[in-house]
Amino acid sequence: MHKGKGANVLGRQPRLSGFISLAMEGECSSSHPSSSNGADEPDHQVMSEIHLGCPPFSSGLHISHFTFPCPPVSDAERLRCVGGEIEQNIDLDEDGDLVLTRKGRPSNNVRLKIQHKITSSIPSVGLQVWKAELVLADFLLHKMFTSSDFDGVVALELGAGTGLLGILLAHVAKTVFLTDRGNEVLDNCYTNVHLNSQIFGDHQVSVYVRELDWNNQWPPIPGSSQLSGGERYKFSWSEEEIDEAMGASILLAADVIYSDELTDALFNTLQSLMSQGFPKVLYLALEKRYNFSLSDLNVVANGYSHFRSYLKNEEELRHAGIRPSRCFVGERNDYESIPQYIREYDRGNDVEIWQIKHISATN
Ligand SMILES: C[S@@+](CC[C@H](N)C(=O)[O-])C[C@H]1O[C@@H](n2cnc3c(N)ncnc32)[C@H](O)[C@@H]1O
Repeated sequence: MHKGKGANVLGRQPRLSGFISLAMEGECSSSHPSSSNGADEPDHQVMSEIHLGCPPFSSGLHISHFTFPCPPVSDAERLRCVGGEIEQNIDLDEDGDLVLTRKGRPSNNVRLKIQHKITSSIPSVGLQVWKAELVLADFLLHKMFTSSDFDGVVALELGAGTGLLGILLAHVAKTVFLTDRGNEVLDNCYTNVHLNSQIFGDHQVSVYVRELDWNNQWPPIPGSSQLSGGERYKFSWSEEEIDEAMGASILLAADVIYSDELTDALFNTLQSLMSQGFPKVLYLALEKRYNFSLSDLNVVANGYSHFRSYLKNEEELRHAGIRPSRCFVGERNDYESIPQYIREYDRGNDVEIWQIKHISATN
């Protein structure tokens, strides 16, 4: 896959912005040319840098492969990996990409097949793979290689898009809920789960694609749906599934911070999800996309300060002797020292990974 470029700067501050805007990028050639960046127009097309090497001018669905070394599924296998085999065997191919192989065994790579669009309108960005999803996937893979933290967990991904992250986690998890909104995105995610069913192997895992729109209440009414047609039933929740999701310990979200209104809706849902049932940890990856802001008269990362305004620092609260009755605490996870397991992208340095918990008077 083609190498992408870093953060892009768009000309003015749109309501939803920061994606590669086809109207602004000469090399991407716009199917919806516009004299402005047009990002607040519903038909305006945007493109994830992950897809820069895909066939140009294609507006349909495309299958890309994402390759990484197979994570261990037992402690015995893990011991062999953390014994140094994985990290000592890092080679570079002719493009300078990392090639990871396990010592003393045949190369045991997993190749995920992900169906996606190469460009989309902003309401359909979930049909593309975004860089934050791949950085978080690397982070999860590293945890799978070095710990049993995710073995047998129940996990739920918010704004799952193509479903890549949850499909990868299904390698070791007990149950994964891939959630998003809209017929098209959910249908595509469902296709991807089926395209990759062989990676689950003998491991018993349940993977559900379910509707979870942050503008709606959590928990949902069993069987209810905002979708049209057969998808109403295909992606709605049963009572047992809601109970199981309440017991999830891991939440995942990648590239879901790009508009303040959306961030408000997301945190509203997180408040409901994380204040009920089993204690949950959210791993959230965001890409800082820089735009010139008229209100700040400066180049700022879109939506970033609004996102940060939701988080308190647990350490600082403890030092100050403050015990808040209800809040989110967040800590940024360093991933620079983690190898790049997934070959087909340029990691860059504009993605942050946050580990977020919800504190309430009862925990
Ligand atoms: C930029 S995409 C990221 C997709 C995927 N996580 C990735 O990184 O490749 C943002 C995702 O958030 C989803 N989303 C946006 N608004 C939403 C809402 N109100 N409720 C649920 N999901 C939403 C979109 O459908 C899309 O899948």
